[in-house]
Amino acid sequence: MLIRTAEQDIKYVLFTEEQIASRVSELAKELCARLEGKRPLMICVLRGASFFFADLCRKMTMDLDMDFIAVSSYGSGATSSGAVRLLKDTRYDVEGRDLVLVEDIIDSGLTIQYLKRLYAARNPASITTVSFLDKDTGKPGKPGVDLCGYTIANEFVVGYGLDYADHYRNLPYIGVIKPECYQ
Ligand code: IMP
Ligand code: MG
Repeated sequence: MLIRTAEQDIKYVLFTEEQIASRVSELAKELCARLEGKRPLMICVLRGASFFFADLCRKMTMDLDMDFIAVSSYGSGATSSGAVRLLKDTRYDVEGRDLVLVEDIIDSGLTIQYLKRLYAARNPASITTVSFLDKDTGKPGKPGVDLCGYTIANEFVVGYGLDYADHYRNLPYIGVIKPECYQ
């Protein structure tokens, strides 16, 4: 079996470990300010948001709950199937809670829109959506998030939790992969 190193497949680094850490700290500060006096229920959308979620929560200087949910994703491809399905729900009763939905990246916005609707129907006190990345797809009317780390160009990115066909998730930085690696 040929073992490739991830570095061979990376066209360029978009955000270094240091840049990520400093932006995550800013987002944590901003969230704490917005949710002052509350005890938020932080919800991580598995698996892409896992590293961001862990880093974000540990930088938040307030009492909070943490839980993990999973939705059906892109499968092994690089384009969305368009249909979102909940694979694992929260075990908390969200009624009256201040929810923070934590995503890795917003592409079409369908996933975050689906999750917002799903939880809004359960009468939480509030829903705040956070995503580390937001892709500029140029499509009008795309559902947005309340807080975002960076808006990026419409390219496929990997690392810091983001995968392509389950590869590259554990890269400590975020990079753009060579098109030949996903075509
Ligand atoms: P959306 O529903 O189209 O907004 O897609 C959101 C989900 O697609 C994210 O949570 C990611 O799991 C995945 N995704 C979208 N773009 C990328 C990318 O560039 N790299 C890795 N995963 C991506
Ligand atoms: Mg995801």
